[in-house]
Amino acid sequence: MKINVVGSGYVGTTLAACLADLGHEVTAVDIDEDVVNTIEHGRAPIHEPGLSDLVAEHTGENLTATTSYENVADADVTFLAIQTPSQEDGSIDISPLAAAAEMTGEALADVEDDHLIIVKSTITPPSIEEIRSTVADSAGDAADRVEVATNPEFLREGTAVEDFLQPEKVVFGTESEWATRRLEEVFQPLLADHDTHVVRTNPETATMIKYANNAFLASKISLVNDLGNICKEFGIDAYEVADAIGLDDRIGEQFLRSGVGWGGSCFPKDVAAIVAAAREAGYDPAMLAAGIEVNDRQPERMLALLDKHVDVEGERVAVLGLAFKPGTDDTRNSRAIPVIEGLQERGAEVVGYDPIATENMRDRFPEIEYADSAIAALEGAAGALVVTDWDEFTALDEKFDTMATPVVVDGRRIVERREGIDYDGLTW
Ligand code: UDX
Repeated sequence: MKINVVGSGYVGTTLAACLADLGHEVTAVDIDEDVVNTIEHGRAPIHEPGLSDLVAEHTGENLTATTSYENVADADVTFLAIQTPSQEDGSIDISPLAAAAEMTGEALADVEDDHLIIVKSTITPPSIEEIRSTVADSAGDAADRVEVATNPEFLREGTAVEDFLQPEKVVFGTESEWATRRLEEVFQPLLADHDTHVVRTNPETATMIKYANNAFLASKISLVNDLGNICKEFGIDAYEVADAIGLDDRIGEQFLRSGVGWGGSCFPKDVAAIVAAAREAGYDPAMLAAGIEVNDRQPERMLALLDKHVDVEGERVAVLGLAFKPGTDDTRNSRAIPVIEGLQERGAEVVGYDPIATENMRDRFPEIEYADSAIAALEGAAGALVVTDWDEFTALDEKFDTMATPVVVDGRRIVERREGIDYDGLTW
């Protein structure tokens, strides 16, 4: 099939490269010339394992990139994978997406065959109507040949390509039979090869499934963190408790790791957005709001544990891990951010270390020191806070002995408790 993917950010580039890999003829459309040049030179504009290889393999063959909407009407479908940034109150700003929808609609004004616009961006159910009417207004006479569908994305950072090519489920949110069939055609190679569950529903329900999925997972972690905090007060190891409750199939063994909480580009944004949209509609979601509150408290609990051991004013304190999770250089909403802020409030001299995320954190905190290794960060420090569960932190062991006072507060249960270090786990 001929497919346009509008927007070459994280989701859009993964989508474009993977659809090309499935054998489709893909055009990536982005208003940013640098991004288009990067793809045209066979490179991915974002860091994701395996993605650059796919882009390199298909560029010049069945993957092209352009800043122009000129040939949009030549394709069978157009995916919109445009960012929907968070606003102050947590709600999403759909204006960049609406602008892309408008340009797509205009480009389709003379279209003679049916064309499907598929919203990949995460948008709340009430905002779909806004995109529909934007498209209808801009497509003019062709409006009844253009349908707006939704097809939410569930991929995780660090395994995006794998998640796309081997999904547990795909969700098609459409209004008509032909639109469903066209989505099935797009994903046919995936549906034929794998035990993928296909959910066929309307556009509003499809996008609600995405929010419910992320809100459930984020709240699950907040729930284990709430329980973990109780465990800590009672001197109980929350991980022993989690392992046992995970044996109950109804609970499941995944996403039970308690600690300093969730970050990244999806969970914080999506939970806040669905809470804001619910409030706008007149319902105040108490559970989801509490999940956000528990998540906001975890970094402060970590700092309170540190305070018990050492007064860090004027002291060097190492923050180990700056990425929001291991395997990525992404620091968006990383728990390291409130941890560093809390240390700064206490007058500590912060030294951060991360194997790959340093440069991204430097943009946020140019004033702190960044070490080239965990070992260098620990030297002479009065305390160390473990914020990201990078594997390499499991091997630090005797390196903690180089600290001025070997106080280690672990937010991810990655360092082993041992004689000679003053070790405190957040929930164990
Ligand atoms: C998430 C969803 O998993 C994915 O389906 C959706 O499309 C986008 O959001 P991602 O943001 O890449 O993916 O990260 P994920 O691996 O889910 O982890 C999110 C956060 O939760 C991380 O900060 C991680 O450290 C934290 N986490 C995860 C825990 O604190 N405990 C756990 O048990 C699991």
